[in-house]
Amino acid sequence: MHIQPIEKRFYIILISIELIFVFWSKYLRIKINLTIHENNLERMSFTIREIEENDFENGFFETLSNLSPVGGINTNEVLKKEIIKEIITNKDYVIIISEDAKSREVIGTATLFIEQKFIHNGGKVGHIEDVATRKGYEGRGIGKEIIKKLITLSRERGCYKVILDCDEKISKFYEKIGFKKKAIMLRFDL
Ligand SMILES: CC(C)(COP(=O)(O)OP(=O)(O)OC[C@H]1O[C@@H](n2cnc3c(N)ncnc32)[C@H](O)[C@@H]1OP(=O)(O)O)[C@@H](O)C(=O)NCCC(=O)NCCS
Repeated sequence: MHIQPIEKRFYIILISIELIFVFWSKYLRIKINLTIHENNLERMSFTIREIEENDFENGFFETLSNLSPVGGINTNEVLKKEIIKEIITNKDYVIIISEDAKSREVIGTATLFIEQKFIHNGGKVGHIEDVATRKGYEGRGIGKEIIKKLITLSRERGCYKVILDCDEKISKFYEKIGFKKKAIMLRFDL
């Protein structure tokens, strides 16, 4: 079986060892069965890029709903258009999406907000928000590639750090990319 190292593929290796004692022949026979199963993940390719206006009608909200319900905004066309206009005209607000190369639909998204500060010599901070991989597309490296893209963008835009809030159960996903736990998040509901 040929394993291509560059491709992200998953394998389950099952090793069973049978110990067969054959007393009458005074020797021990060890039989090892090695089975490699390729996981059934469908191979797919995707591109990572900044959002374009037609993406909002092409799977963006379906993807975002894996994070939180977006029903209200998706049915209010006027409000939706206003928000889209506000977002795409704000240079400090960047939405990155992942597009399925086959269906051309949005299958992942995350937002970067660039904060200009007075402290840190007028430095900038990148805030990552609204990270979601579309339901059914998780575990294929889409989320990781989007976050890596946002880190690169933050660096290019002169940020000295990138921060985000998340549930404890998701923190491993970010730690694998290189984020470190720091401080705590507080919230005041309005
Ligand atoms: C969390 C989420 C964005 C991850 O996206 P994804 O595309 O499935 O993640 P990836 O396939 O890129 O995973 C990258 C790595 O992180 C790991 N990982 C993914 N989700 C994880 C989780 N919830 N907990 C721990 N590890 C996780 C993967 O196993 C993979 O590990 P590997 O590099 O060792 O193979 C996605 O599951 C999602 O949309 N969840 C619902 C919305 C949500 O919770 N968003 C986060 C808000 S802070």
